[in-house]
Amino acid sequence: MRSRIIAPLGGTRGIMGEQLNPAQTQEILHIEGLTHDGRGVARHAGKTVFVSGALPGEDVGIRLLRSHPRHDEAAVTTIVQASPERVSPLCPHFGACGGCALQHLTPAAQLAAHARRLEETLRRIGKSTARRWLPPVESAPWGYRSRARLAVRREPTSGAILVGFRREESAHLEPLEHCPVLVPALAPLPAELRCGLERLSGPAIPHEIWLAAGDEGIGIGFCFRQTVGEAERAQLQALGAALGAQIGFGTQASREPPRWESPPPQLHYSPEEGTTLAFAPWDFTQANRVVNRHLLSSVLELLAPGPEDQVLDLFCGIGNFTVPLARRAAAVLGVESSAQHLDVARENARRNGIGNCSFERADLFSVEGVAALPRNRYRLAVLDPPRAGAAAVCKQARALGLRGIAYVSCDTATLARDAALLREGGFKLQGAGVLDMFPHTAHAESVALFTR
Ligand SMILES: C[S@@+](CC[C@H](N)C(=O)[O-])C[C@H]1O[C@@H](n2cnc3c(N)ncnc32)[C@H](O)[C@@H]1O
Repeated sequence: MRSRIIAPLGGTRGIMGEQLNPAQTQEILHIEGLTHDGRGVARHAGKTVFVSGALPGEDVGIRLLRSHPRHDEAAVTTIVQASPERVSPLCPHFGACGGCALQHLTPAAQLAAHARRLEETLRRIGKSTARRWLPPVESAPWGYRSRARLAVRREPTSGAILVGFRREESAHLEPLEHCPVLVPALAPLPAELRCGLERLSGPAIPHEIWLAAGDEGIGIGFCFRQTVGEAERAQLQALGAALGAQIGFGTQASREPPRWESPPPQLHYSPEEGTTLAFAPWDFTQANRVVNRHLLSSVLELLAPGPEDQVLDLFCGIGNFTVPLARRAAAVLGVESSAQHLDVARENARRNGIGNCSFERADLFSVEGVAALPRNRYRLAVLDPPRAGAAAVCKQARALGLRGIAYVSCDTATLARDAALLREGGFKLQGAGVLDMFPHTAHAESVALFTR
C-alpha cells in the first residue's frame, strides 16, 4: 500500500465533475485496479477506496466524497503519475453524463480490462475457466451506437427544455447537443429535438425519447406520462417528418415499460448477408450493428448447428439469432416474454422465407416458465438474457436435455453466477471472449460456450 496525506488543494469539482468538499484533507493514493463501472481501486488505512476518474497504475490526489464502514468513495483532484493508457476524453460531457465511464482510457485498454474482468469473474464466481479464450472483438470507438433513450425535462424557472442522458439511478439530466458514440444519423438529434420541442405550442412534453437507426432511415418514439392530444401529435409528426424519421407514441404512467402505439416496424438491419430484420425504435436490437455481426458469427461458430439439430433461442427478441439459426438447423423455437417482440419476430421469419421456426411466449425468469419448455427435444440453445441473467434456465438446463449452450451476456457478474449453476449441472466452459459492443461505457458484452 502506498498512500500519504498531503496538504489540501483548492477547487470544488473533481476531474469527473463531482462536487467536492473543500474542507476534506487531500491524499495521494496508488491505484491498483479498475471496477466494472470504471472507477480506480486503491487501499488506504485498511479500507478499499473507489476513486472516480483514476486508472490502474496511477498516483492520484483524491478527495473523499463518501465514507462507508468497509469502503470509501473518492474523486481525483490531481494526477501525480498518469497511466500511459490515459487519453483525453473526446466528449465535453464526460464525467457528468451517465453514458460513458471510460473515455479517459484507450479503447484497446478498455477491451483488455473487460477481458481480464471476464476471466477473473468466471474464475472467482463461476468457479470455471475457459478451455479456449476467444480473441476480443474490437469496435469503431465512435459513431457506433444505433439506439438510445434520451431524457427530457422542462426547467421549472426558465421553462427551457433540456434533452440529454440521465445517470443510472439518478435524477440528474446532463443536457447534450451532440453525442459522439451515436451513429452519425442520430448524433445531432439531441439538439435538433430540443429545438423542435421548444416550438411545441401545448404544455405536454415527452419525458423520454427513444431513438434508433436502421441500415436506412431513423425512428423516434416519443414517450409521455399520459396520452397526448391530437394537436401535439400533429406537431410531433411534423417534427419527425422534418427530421426524416418514423414516429411513434408511447405512454408510461409508472415504472412499467411504456405502451407503444406501434405502427408496423419500418426500420431494418441485417445481422448477416441475406437476412434482413424489421424493427421499431422501441424494440430491443443489439446496440452496435457491426459488433452484432461478429457476435452472430461467434454464436454460430461455437454452437455449430447442423441440419439435424433442433435449437432453442431463449430471450429471442425480434429474431436476431432465430432467423440465422433456422437457416442452418432443422428447427428453431424462439422464446421471449414480450408479445410485441414475438409479433415482430414471427413477421421477420416470414419475410425471410423461414418456415422451420416457431415462437412461444414465456417468462424465462420463472421456474415454471422454464419447466414448461419441451424436454429432450432441443440439444442446443442460445441464451441471450437481459442483465439479470438466466438463473432459472441454467438451473434446469440439464433437465431440459441441453448439451450445448451459447450464452450471450451483457453482464459479466450474472454470466459468472450462471456459469456456476451450469457447472453444477455438469456443463463445462469450452470457450469465452469479450466483444466491444459499447466502447467507452462500463458495459461489457461476452459470449461463452458451455457443453455437457
Ligand atoms: C438482451 S435482449 C436479446 C434479444 C435478442 N436475442 C437479440 O439478439 O436481439 C433480451 C431479451 O429478453 C427479453 N426478456 C426480458 N425478460 C424476459 C423474461 N423474463 N422472459 C423471457 N424473455 C425476457 C427481452 O424482451 C429481450 O428481447
